Amino acid sequence: MSQQKGRLDGKVAVITGAASGMGWATVHLFLNEGAAVVGFDLNAENGADLADSVSAAGASDRFRFLAGDVAQEEDIKNAVALAAESFGRLDIMFNNAGVGGAFGPIVETELSHWEDTFAINMRGVFLGTKYAARQMIKQGEGGAIINTASVAGLSGGSGPTAYSAAKAGVINFTKNAALEFAPDNIRVNAICPGLIFTPLAHRGRIEQLEETMRRTQPWPQRGEPEHIANAALYLASAESAFVTGEAHVVDGGYSVSGSLSDQRQSGMGPRPRAGVAYGTTGRAPMVRDLEP
Ligand SMILES: NC(=O)c1ccc[n+]([C@@H]2O[C@H](COP(=O)([O-])OP(=O)(O)OC[C@H]3O[C@@H](n4cnc5c(N)ncnc54)[C@H](O)[C@@H]3O)[C@@H](O)[C@H]2O)c1
Repeated sequence: MSQQKGRLDGKVAVITGAASGMGWATVHLFLNEGAAVVGFDLNAENGADLADSVSAAGASDRFRFLAGDVAQEEDIKNAVALAAESFGRLDIMFNNAGVGGAFGPIVETELSHWEDTFAINMRGVFLGTKYAARQMIKQGEGGAIINTASVAGLSGGSGPTAYSAAKAGVINFTKNAALEFAPDNIRVNAICPGLIFTPLAHRGRIEQLEETMRRTQPWPQRGEPEHIANAALYLASAESAFVTGEAHVVDGGYSVSGSLSDQRQSGMGPRPRAGVAYGTTGRAPMVRDLEP
């Protein structure tokens, strides 16, 4: 693996949700660009696979994996501490972990499923920002915090209600954090992916997702994890030195098409269901059919 003129040479990053999809792609891109990386994920088994893939790429000396939950304060604190202990500092925090969470009609949504959705998708971003910013302020050399939101946070109709609300929260949290940390030269930006072909989105049903893509997205090619990794690289690197508080949309034109309505994505399609999905964390989903 070349370390010549990497755009992140000497930088240290923590990436949450590292063991699958966008996080996995970003770990490899950041390592390739010269950064040292702490990968953090709830799924320790996939985390071990990630560590193997980093080893195969010859970058183990610049990589650590830590299993933990972004919704738990101590776990996030430990991830930031691991970066500081292992690599001496923290320059980039990518708060990327997320799950689809609660789905189905509001009137059928369990409170605990709603709370889980916010704990992972919203509280996790708050905690990651809190501990990363503390470390960056202590260092006194600025930094970059990047939060994965979603086009679902920009309007109604692009995802389950709890998920959309949490992702809208991530976008506005990002704007306030950008204001708060600008005097410290810490930039805070969000990425709003559209439909990206990761295990979270396709759940093994690639053809079904391709059909959804054809119906809702103007761009003919699929969104891939690498598209998001490249956006994260831009927001992490000096190339975006004057960019902060932005919600950077990467969606193949999905959100400019005017109509985002896709009720199937909200779990309110022809077969009404309610429940909660924990994506690729290894935690089992709970689903129940509703009366038509
Ligand atoms: N795939 C899409 O179409 C899409 C679109 C918009 C936004 N997003 C968002 O992008 C981000 C990455 O998703 P992805 O598509 O790469 O999914 P993915 O399931 O492939 O990867 C997400 C990773 O996050 C981890 N994770 C989940 N909850 C966690 C927790 N509490 N603590 C630590 N790790 C946890 C999972 O174990 C998994 O490894 C998420 O925030 C997701 O909501 C995805």
